[in-house]
Amino acid sequence: MTKDLLLWDQTIFKEQEYFELDFLPENLLHRDAQMRSLKFSVSPALRGSTPLNAYCRGAPGTGKTSAVLKVFSELENATQKVVPVYINCQVDSTRYAIFAQIFKKLFGYPPPSSGISFKKLFSQIAKHLVEKKRVLIVALDDFNYLMASKEADEVLYSLLRMHEVQPGAKVGVITILSDLTLDMVRDLTPQVQSVFLPEEIAFPQYSPEEIKDILKYRVRYGFMQGVISDELIDIVTGYTADTGDLRVGINMLKRAGLNAERRASRAISKEDIEKAYEGSRYIHLNYTIRNLKKEEKVLLKCIVASGKEEMMSGELYECFKEKTDLGYTSFYEMVNRLEGLKILSLNTTGKGTRGQSRLVSLMYDPGEVEKRIDV
Ligand SMILES: Nc1ncnc2c1ncn2[C@@H]1O[C@H](COP(=O)(O)OP(=O)(O)O)[C@@H](O)[C@H]1O
Ligand SMILES: [Mg+2]
Repeated sequence: MTKDLLLWDQTIFKEQEYFELDFLPENLLHRDAQMRSLKFSVSPALRGSTPLNAYCRGAPGTGKTSAVLKVFSELENATQKVVPVYINCQVDSTRYAIFAQIFKKLFGYPPPSSGISFKKLFSQIAKHLVEKKRVLIVALDDFNYLMASKEADEVLYSLLRMHEVQPGAKVGVITILSDLTLDMVRDLTPQVQSVFLPEEIAFPQYSPEEIKDILKYRVRYGFMQGVISDELIDIVTGYTADTGDLRVGINMLKRAGLNAERRASRAISKEDIEKAYEGSRYIHLNYTIRNLKKEEKVLLKCIVASGKEEMMSGELYECFKEKTDLGYTSFYEMVNRLEGLKILSLNTTGKGTRGQSRLVSLMYDPGEVEKRIDV
């Protein structure tokens, strides 16, 4: 009996880092094709030429950020002549902020805090690239944040036409988008479209088998031996597959491990897993709601405010119409999109036309949804 109990200074984690969401594993499983495409796009840079542009597309938690960071770290280890710059557009969401990050990466220090004009910032970057014969590759992650603020065109235009202002400047761009309903290329102006022409790299959702493989890898390196059984990993896999977001599973393993430790147990139990899910399931919701448009949040708020478990779509539209100036077509598209994001579920009643009689319900507890909506 006592050998099943942990002493207070013992732990069932071998490397807890393996369960952190920003942890970059040595191997990305089941992403060989995507890694190959990414490497193919950037490979001209290794020969001193302009790389191809790329566009990574896929649902949240399908490994897009990890794949790009992986390729970037390999590039950095290989040469000083190629400079990869990773931008999180949610953090740096203006053209100026993005170019300031590029400046910092190239020069090793930030632009003067007294402030310099964009034009100056731009020309210093361009000159540096030509003089030092360096090729710049910029990854714009969560690119939807730039599309919302209309900075997207200007950022791409400035990067991809740098060679016109400074002949010899070589720049490639990789955009990353988790929003499958946005058509980023179509939404750009024709002038930008004509210079961007990206290779599209699709990141499909992982199958349950693939999810299990990836989770087992974390278990092998993150936990001591025998901490979690194969049957319990199957349960975590099932919950993860429901959202399609790997972060749910990785976070569940960590929470389940901590729950076991709290009981001073050397092994994770089914209850530890179920309790972990209560917390981890909201990881996907947090991420998704943060990325919604204002009107989509208004729509969710209408459902929450109704106090009902299910709402007829016609009735929901009445509430939505009052609070926004959008018509039925936009409403209809939004409902479908929210279903695609696994926030809403839709059921048909078999009555009515054009889906007026669909039943709409939340996939999460209304109180939890409300807490995360800031409109
Ligand atoms: N193929 C994979 N192999 C191992 N871990 C992965 C893989 N794909 C994703 N992950 C892990 O899942 C989490 C989400 O991945 P991330 O790259 O952030 O997805 P995305 O950018 O598509 O939302 C991260 O913790 C990452 O380490
Ligand atoms: Mg990402």
